[in-house]
Amino acid sequence: MTEAVETDVLIVGSGPAGSTAALMLSTYGVANIVVTKYDRFADTPRAHITNQRAMEVLRDAGLEEAVVAQATPQYLMGQTPFCTSLAGEELGRLHTWYTHPARQAEHDLASPTSICDMPQHLMEPVLANAAIARGTRLRFGTEYLGLTQDADGVTATVRDRLRGDTFRIRAKYLIGADGGRSRVAEDIGLPMVGQMGVAGSINIVFEADLTRYVAHRPSTLYWVLQTGSDVGGIGMGLVRCVRPWNEWLIVWGYDINGEPPNLTEDYARRIAHQLIGDDTVPVTVRSSSAWTVNHLYAERYHTGRVFCAGDAVHRHPPSNGLGSNTSIQDAYNLAWKLKLVLSGAADPRLLESYSAERAPVGRQIVGRANRSIGETSRIFQALGLLSTEDPEQMRANMAARKSPGPEAEKQRRLLREAVEFKNYEFNTHGVELDQRYRSDAIVADGTPAPVPTRDHELHHHPTTWPGAKVPHAWLGHGAGRLSTLDVGGRGRFALLTGVGGEPWIGAARTVAATLGVEVVAASIGPGADYEDLYGDWATLREVEDTGCVLLRPDNYVAYRSTALPPDPERALTTALRHILALD
Ligand code: FDA
Repeated sequence: MTEAVETDVLIVGSGPAGSTAALMLSTYGVANIVVTKYDRFADTPRAHITNQRAMEVLRDAGLEEAVVAQATPQYLMGQTPFCTSLAGEELGRLHTWYTHPARQAEHDLASPTSICDMPQHLMEPVLANAAIARGTRLRFGTEYLGLTQDADGVTATVRDRLRGDTFRIRAKYLIGADGGRSRVAEDIGLPMVGQMGVAGSINIVFEADLTRYVAHRPSTLYWVLQTGSDVGGIGMGLVRCVRPWNEWLIVWGYDINGEPPNLTEDYARRIAHQLIGDDTVPVTVRSSSAWTVNHLYAERYHTGRVFCAGDAVHRHPPSNGLGSNTSIQDAYNLAWKLKLVLSGAADPRLLESYSAERAPVGRQIVGRANRSIGETSRIFQALGLLSTEDPEQMRANMAARKSPGPEAEKQRRLLREAVEFKNYEFNTHGVELDQRYRSDAIVADGTPAPVPTRDHELHHHPTTWPGAKVPHAWLGHGAGRLSTLDVGGRGRFALLTGVGGEPWIGAARTVAATLGVEVVAASIGPGADYEDLYGDWATLREVEDTGCVLLRPDNYVAYRSTALPPDPERALTTALRHILALD
């Protein structure tokens, strides 16, 4: 075998996790190679909901506009109906993805970015092409086969699938972003909890002009409930918009205990017509595939110099739209730490905070997504579908809600409540934005975690509590405005202070030079570096004017001080040395 190819970081996989890892590492100037098994990026839409936190990552990487240009915007995402078919009866409708006027305000206040719908086959090229333009070397058709690691690095064996030969790549670190059947996670023995193959699903990608059935209620998801269908007598199908209103993806269930259905074109077209409810609509089937719903997470995300990210360490159904979002955020969390360790500014122990911070998030979102599937049964219950297996009786039970009288009134109320309860699948702002970290890369300030004032899954609670994402506030700079998140990011630490906190700024310069890290320092207030345009930062920052909030490169609060201490340089040195694992 020839000499091994060398790099700093080898990334296995070019999905959302692998592409983001490559993008951020190249943005930070870290040499990296991506090997990916197939000769192409994802060829089906797969993940699509791109939440505000993922958009903040892309904004930091300079790709927000490129994604917005191709994505379906929020205002076309959220009139989500539950119906008997697209042409059939509508049973209830929910404002999703924060499009309810009351939720829209929360959404707009929480972030400089907006949620959008960016199908995975469009997202991967945006991420990977930017990574390549910034220095990533990406090899298609190259399959990871195995690895060995020692005190100085990792040697991976890969196979060129075109030529059939194998070669070795030597890297200081390896990221396994090789998806739900991760060989890397298996090879490094990550402890997994849960189960694969909880339920069976089919994806059918097709083209059809459905404008007349959907344009008056624009949504990214159309839920279709059909009595007497395949799964347990109650089929709940999903017609998902890929491109308004001509490209679609159907998700349909099959009994995991039986044989997967024979996915012929005729079968796929029949399901499509069944869910549309009009078989005169021309349907062109593009592809169909079977997949399984999983409920599995890793308790630890690394062994030695090998780290896993994305579906390799959290496997769950598409509910809540958390798949690619969490994968992107895993990579964002890891990339700046690798950069600081590889540059020698941080001790390798900093990398241990990756598992400590992201593994609890993985566990949480796997649970959340699986609960959301179960909670749909409240709608079946309200419609009287769980008390019988006879399709005729089911139809009669559903129709009963249209009658006068107390029984039907109760049924109508239960149905409204059941649809409303789906907010826990489609409007979980707290799940998306409030992933709090506890690790050695955070300097706790001794205050207890803030107690949520509203439902912690549904609502975002901005705070500068160390371990939380920095709250967004619009700041004035010249004639323009930018977010608090824009002051930070780009691989740098950022220190925010106010009028009277100027000694922090001098201290930040000195400490940055001493420790060899980049720290931007800015004061916010009248006549300062940035104006607090609407007074929002003063409301959100939870420290005094002379205090400070120190952000990590991923815009998480690493340290805060309520007011100016006698020796800010010493306070900042202690905090940064702790974060960089130098003590
Ligand atoms: P991902 O699976 O995207 O990427 C893994 C990468 O590793 C690929 O590039 C693959 O080629 C590569 N790879 C694997 N083994 C390798 C090896 N041995 N050597 C080299 N490369 C290797 N989510 C959602 O939110 N909504 C949805 O509707 C769907 N629908 C959906 C449908 C289907 C069919 C699938 C498979 C998945 C979904 N998902 C989804 C899940 C979503 O796609 C998923 O959460 C993210 O893609 C996870 O991103 P990763 O980068 O972690 O893995």
